[in-house]
Amino acid sequence: MNKLSILCLFLVSSIGVAEAQELSPAEASGKVVFDKWCEPCHGRVAGGVFGGLGTNALPGTSALMVKYKGDLPPVLEDRIDLQPIYISTVVRGGLYGMPISRKTEISDADLQNIIAYLNRPR
Ligand code: HEC
Repeated sequence: MNKLSILCLFLVSSIGVAEAQELSPAEASGKVVFDKWCEPCHGRVAGGVFGGLGTNALPGTSALMVKYKGDLPPVLEDRIDLQPIYISTVVRGGLYGMPISRKTEISDADLQNIIAYLNRPR
């Protein structure tokens, strides 16, 4: 194999990887809703005025860190084990420190998009 064909193979395979990481329209809408309603508690990096200070800066991420003690990723967006029914049950019914979300805040369509985003192929 000459250098040019190796380069071509490399380029083709990198394009394939880039495409696999593109979000579908539903996943992309889900990310927008997630960033607004879930990210403040489940984010990777604490934001806000006191960003990063205190254990409650990211209540969701901190709680899941304690709950799974490193057996599962504390950041929700890194999880690949979340079943759609579990996500919708927790969002509508709440779970310990997590409040419920009403349909007037997050519509059923938005919730389906969040689920699509959290279950995006990786
Ligand atoms: C006010 C903060 C807050 C917001 C906003 C929030 N969560 Fe949570 N969430 C938590 C906390 C705290 C937990 C941990 C509950 C526990 O102790 O088991 C949690 C847990 C979860 C779990 C369960 C994970 C597991 O392994 O048991 C899911 C799924 C989840 N949240 C999804 C969402 C989604 C989707 C949104 C946005 C629609 C959202 N959360 C918004 C605080 C929040």
